Amino acid sequence: MTTLSYQVAGAGGGDGGERPPRKWKDWALERETELRLEAPDQEGSLIDIKLVRGTAEVFGTEVARNQSYSLCPRMKLAIFTWHGCTVRVEGEPQVAYISEETPMIMYLNTHIAVDQLRHRREKEGQIGPRVMLAGATDVGKSTLCRLLLSYAARLGRQPCLVDCDVGQGSVSIPGSLCVLSVERPADIETGEFNKQASLVYSYGATTPSDNFKLYTTVVTSMAAMFRERCTARPATKSGGCVINTCGWVEGQGYNALVHVAEAFEVDVVLVLDHERLTLDLQRDLPKTTEIVPLPKSGGVVARTREFRRRNREDAVREYFYGKRPHLLSPFSFEVAFSDIQICKIGAQAAAFFVHFSSCSSPVSLASGDGESGRQCPPGPRGAHTDVDMEAKTLTVLSPAPHPLPRKILIRTNLQFMDFQ
Ligand SMILES: Nc1ncnc2c1ncn2[C@@H]1O[C@H](COP(=O)(O)OP(=O)(O)OP(=O)(O)O)[C@@H](O)[C@H]1O
Ligand SMILES: [Mg+2]
Repeated sequence: MTTLSYQVAGAGGGDGGERPPRKWKDWALERETELRLEAPDQEGSLIDIKLVRGTAEVFGTEVARNQSYSLCPRMKLAIFTWHGCTVRVEGEPQVAYISEETPMIMYLNTHIAVDQLRHRREKEGQIGPRVMLAGATDVGKSTLCRLLLSYAARLGRQPCLVDCDVGQGSVSIPGSLCVLSVERPADIETGEFNKQASLVYSYGATTPSDNFKLYTTVVTSMAAMFRERCTARPATKSGGCVINTCGWVEGQGYNALVHVAEAFEVDVVLVLDHERLTLDLQRDLPKTTEIVPLPKSGGVVARTREFRRRNREDAVREYFYGKRPHLLSPFSFEVAFSDIQICKIGAQAAAFFVHFSSCSSPVSLASGDGESGRQCPPGPRGAHTDVDMEAKTLTVLSPAPHPLPRKILIRTNLQFMDFQ
């Protein structure tokens, strides 16, 4: 089924140019199969893909014919075809194989059912379907979320992505929750949606258990904000939303899931590969909420703790310094202790100050107006890179120039080593 043709690019059809010659291989895919790829870890070992025949998509986004897409290091993806295609892969991926076993038909049927609900709700003048993804870690929740949103965008819908997974942060840095209006399918190279119409809430930790009360407060605020958006924008109202959640589904993690479902009054919960969670949610959520079990794709790749830690670090670094080739230069300046107030939500004043002043590692800060989750979110983030207790100043790394837009800084639990 696969066509093997290792050659040197340039001799056999690579892009040539300045790059050193690289191996490439044409993969012929039959209908309803997918090519699964994992890009290597190292920066600089580029993998490019190009569709040379037929039609294909990457997690719901159509692949353009004869256009090269570069994969970021550590990226894992599947190029799926409904009707058959040939994909050229240039470079040496860590993993590459074709699979005929995919749950794509079930995922497509789910999308069709959700869109039918959108039509019905639109006729009745109600908010479109609110769909929540649930399941343990590494079952493909974020991927299915991306697929459903990209399919909806391809139909001209404008649903919202609601990201409640504070561990990864698909829209902003880890430790944040967000509502993002999706108007176009996700980008194949970055896997991200256009972030312009996003509302980001700073929670400040990578698991809901760090400050459960704050987590639920922020979720409740986001749900209220989503409803306000629906009132203001008819396209958002008819599009509804798709909610991504953490993979922590035990104990308080389960309570967090139930809270998200209740706050957003979800219509459908798609539970990936978890029978007990399906039954628990059927028991605990209102009978009007449909709980749909779905299988996980065999292509989903389990990621180690170290892998996740590096992804989190990269996400924070990108927030300040951008992503190649669009590198940014953040600002670094000093602020006097007397010009700012530093808060930590849920900490006792004295204990917090001692910890902060003796702290040697960089700590990130979110600026905000007040103490509650509702008031703190949309400010820009900064990281303090130095504390001078004698001069009573703090050196701040910030995407915005001096002066700070607000005087109240909210200290979070995220840490970021600035090796730039
Ligand atoms: N069919 C597939 N083929 C190849 N890779 C895949 C496939 N589906 C998902 N992946 C990859 O597997 C990894 C894990 O998937 P995903 O992030 O969707 O899981 P998750 O359930 O959201 O995990 P978490 O609990 O950490 O949030 C991702 O890197 C994703 O790109
Ligand atoms: Mg995820």
